[in-house]
Amino acid sequence: MDDLDALKTELIGEVSAAADLDALEQVRISALGKKGRITDLMKGLGQMSADERKEAGQALNALKGHINDALNARKSEMEGAGIDARLEAERVDVTLPPRPEATGSIHPISQTIDEVVSIFGEMGFTVAEGPDMEEDWYNFTALNIPADHPARQEHDTFYLNAEKDGQRMVLRTHTSPVQIRTMQKQKPPIRIIVPGRTYRCDHDATHSPMFHQVEGLVIDEKTHMGHLKGCLNDFFRAFFGLQDLPVRFRPSYFPFTEPSAEVDIGCSFESGTLTIGRGDDKGTGDWLEILGSGMIHPNVLENCGIDSTKYQGFAFGVGIERLAMLKYGIPDLRTFYDSDYRWLKHFGFAGLDVPSLVGRAAV
Ligand code: PHE
Repeated sequence: MDDLDALKTELIGEVSAAADLDALEQVRISALGKKGRITDLMKGLGQMSADERKEAGQALNALKGHINDALNARKSEMEGAGIDARLEAERVDVTLPPRPEATGSIHPISQTIDEVVSIFGEMGFTVAEGPDMEEDWYNFTALNIPADHPARQEHDTFYLNAEKDGQRMVLRTHTSPVQIRTMQKQKPPIRIIVPGRTYRCDHDATHSPMFHQVEGLVIDEKTHMGHLKGCLNDFFRAFFGLQDLPVRFRPSYFPFTEPSAEVDIGCSFESGTLTIGRGDDKGTGDWLEILGSGMIHPNVLENCGIDSTKYQGFAFGVGIERLAMLKYGIPDLRTFYDSDYRWLKHFGFAGLDVPSLVGRAAV
């Protein structure tokens, strides 16, 4: 007890000499652990007289506090040094160039969807989505599709083993059910496009059992067929980058539109190659069917609780693969899904390479 000052100097010396956290812990145990030197002295207090105990107790507590402070200070010093050393060793050079072999590309389907969304986005359309597994009512009934319509046949449609309201569910055969889902949720004015996967029991060079469509839907109190024509004219001209692209509307039939029109774009098959547009008008003057459209049938509006005497509008549906094949000269639809690395490299796109109504006119 006599030489607490000497003990203090000795222990402080050990604390500053400790080389790492392990050594520091050893110093702590030897001083303050169960059998540590300060702990031993504390145990001796019991044998002292009350006066002695008071004085010695205060001195010992002060020593204990002092050593604890020294240990903590040294500990945080060591930890700080550890972090500094790691920061130094693990430094990242953000100025290094990327490794060129690791670049990916945007698939032509995704690219085409981005392009369509971008062009219609500039016309004020927003994107809506719906489920791939659809209820019979949304895919057919609400769209005014009669019981004997071919799309309802087993050999055209993938029916599922799940039922809703006593009807088997289907893999949606078109994106049109999202028209219904949107009209149920949202009051007019409505202006949406719906890109998504669709399914039909077909497989050849121009058909795949799974393919993509973009649906468009506009409903308000004034939209008429002239708007449908103007909107699609502008879209095709922006999409193909051809300001004089001929676009033709041909009478057609869809159960959910009245009147209905199929849309063709001008092309030429001169010397066996398909060229979109007519160029200098010396082409063969052929037409290529590309899209289905029409004014929403009043029955469809009423099925969704929309007053058909007040509201009207148009819808259209177009195949994404077909758009991509025509624009980018891809001859076989099946190659979209082969995941052939060479094909992806050839037809893939760099990110953010998207045209707009005003931009990138050249093809
Ligand atoms: N759903 C139709 C189809 O897949 C296309 C279409 C959509 C036609 C909207 C008219 C209006 O063939």
